[in-house]
Amino acid sequence: MKEFDYIVIGSGIAGLTFALKAAPHGRVAIITKKHLAEANTQYAQGGIAAVTKPTDSADLHVADTLRAGAGLCREQVVQTIVEEGPARVQELIDLGMDFTRGESISADGERFYSLGKEGGHSKRRVLHAKDATGREIMRALLAALERAPNVSVFEDHFAIDLITSAKLGLSGENRCVGTYVLDRNSGEVETFCAPHVVLATGGCGKVYLYTTNPDIATGDGVAMAYRAGVPVANMEFTQFHPTCLYHPKAKSYLVSEALRGEGAVLKDLSGREFMDAAHPMASLAPRDIVARTIDSEMKRTGADHMLLDITHKPAPFIIDRFPNIYRKCLEFGIDITKQPIPVVPAAHYQCGGVQTDVDGRTELPGLYAVGEVANTGLHGANRLASNSLLEGLVCAHRAAQSVLAEPQPPADVTLPSWHSGAAEDPDELVVVSHNWDEIRRCMWDYVSIVRTRKRLLRAQSRIENLLEEIRQYYWDFKVTADLLELRNIAQVAELIIQCALQRPESRGLHYNLDSPGHDEAWGQRDTVAQREGRRKSAVRNA
Ligand code: FAD
Ligand code: SIN
Repeated sequence: MKEFDYIVIGSGIAGLTFALKAAPHGRVAIITKKHLAEANTQYAQGGIAAVTKPTDSADLHVADTLRAGAGLCREQVVQTIVEEGPARVQELIDLGMDFTRGESISADGERFYSLGKEGGHSKRRVLHAKDATGREIMRALLAALERAPNVSVFEDHFAIDLITSAKLGLSGENRCVGTYVLDRNSGEVETFCAPHVVLATGGCGKVYLYTTNPDIATGDGVAMAYRAGVPVANMEFTQFHPTCLYHPKAKSYLVSEALRGEGAVLKDLSGREFMDAAHPMASLAPRDIVARTIDSEMKRTGADHMLLDITHKPAPFIIDRFPNIYRKCLEFGIDITKQPIPVVPAAHYQCGGVQTDVDGRTELPGLYAVGEVANTGLHGANRLASNSLLEGLVCAHRAAQSVLAEPQPPADVTLPSWHSGAAEDPDELVVVSHNWDEIRRCMWDYVSIVRTRKRLLRAQSRIENLLEEIRQYYWDFKVTADLLELRNIAQVAELIIQCALQRPESRGLHYNLDSPGHDEAWGQRDTVAQREGRRKSAVRNA
């Protein structure tokens, strides 16, 4: 058994920020299923939204966030995160983060940061490192981690499930006391123990066939928390990014919304600017509206993609502002300074997640959730662009402050070792890849941008059958990372469908043709799913 003061599962912006803040105060284990830098954070393009100029204000940022969230944000949470954002961004700069600077010069002779604009924002407020903000954030955080004391890093280690005192039959308050972890290299399952466990496992884009997310995004944290009986909320709100590169050889390549912030416009294949008729902000409308309008244009015209055109801007500007997107598209034979970019919507961000307060506290003492895995109430029914890195930074900081203020002694107990089926199955690969494809295709076809009750029910019955098959398989055979991810995407798919069926209205990212309007009687209610007993699940509106 490995013992620590803090276990952090995940090494994106949220996990690393928490770990850096906790490290001076105790032993920290960072468990991450691939290598440290392989996280959604690494791929972030547009930047971090934060108020850094006197011409902007926290009130405006709050108002934009609330408007995008379609009436479901928790206003106090939005206020806190927006107001604390600039201080956390400054800390990142102090760690060495190199945001791009613009041309204008401040009174003390420094160049101001260049601020990008994205959908739903009323002001330019997105700090960025050209078009590869996430890569620069990870560089800065990982460099700081090298200097940090007390941190043990476990790469290629896959957290399987949380360990709770109730599950062990211990008396007293039920707490999270650790986690079982698969060492992918040895194939052994190890027991990690700590009084504070932080889920920072990111989102679940891989539940869908087409996504902007890297392969790590399989919803493991949500699935683990749910299996441990922790409430999970608002999973119906999957954000589809409107502009993923459409090319047969491009896997998950995002074309940043920041292009639209610099004047790129969406067009259909005949060159018509179809967003003008859909929303006063046209191509820079909030993301749910843009993705839905693209989806409807594609269905109406039979086209398999739309176009994003920035060719009217000077080529040197485009190449300087978007060097990576320019290079990547060129690899596929598209010169974005001369040709419009073929784009399609793809699953991008999980707005719901493990229910927490603004300090990352879950209902289970000892368990925190921060970053994309959490549902704090910041995003409501639709996240405002570039608010996710902000939430990861602010909430990880607050979670660290909160655990440091409430220190807990380690559990005085030896946690039992892991038991699993011993058999190895030669057919495993084919079973796993078949079920994996089936789930992702089913979610894409039936639980996508536009939904109906009939399609949701059809998807539910398929996913439940698959889940049952996976459960049986899971207990018979030795666990592998592929099998664990399959089990988790199936679980998260079921939760998305359950929450979608529970919401009797369309709101933000959840658009149901059978109930197309807001249901005002619902007010600010969330859909909350919580496991009761071994298999039974209850979904309620809270
Ligand atoms: P992640 O960065 O995803 O990190 C999750 C970590 O958990 C990874 O290290 C992963 O390996 C690990 N992990 C997961 N499961 C397990 C397990 N079972 N065991 C062990 N480890 C595990 N947001 C913005 O605000 N601005 C942007 O410009 C922006 N651009 C984006 C561009 C792209 C292409 C994508 C995909 C997302 C973008 N987002 C952006 C969203 C944002 O990047 C993410 O929401 C954010 O980075 C999530 O950070 P996180 O720390 O919560 O999770
Ligand atoms: C982008 O650069 O378009 C992504 C921004 C985000 O997801 O917040």
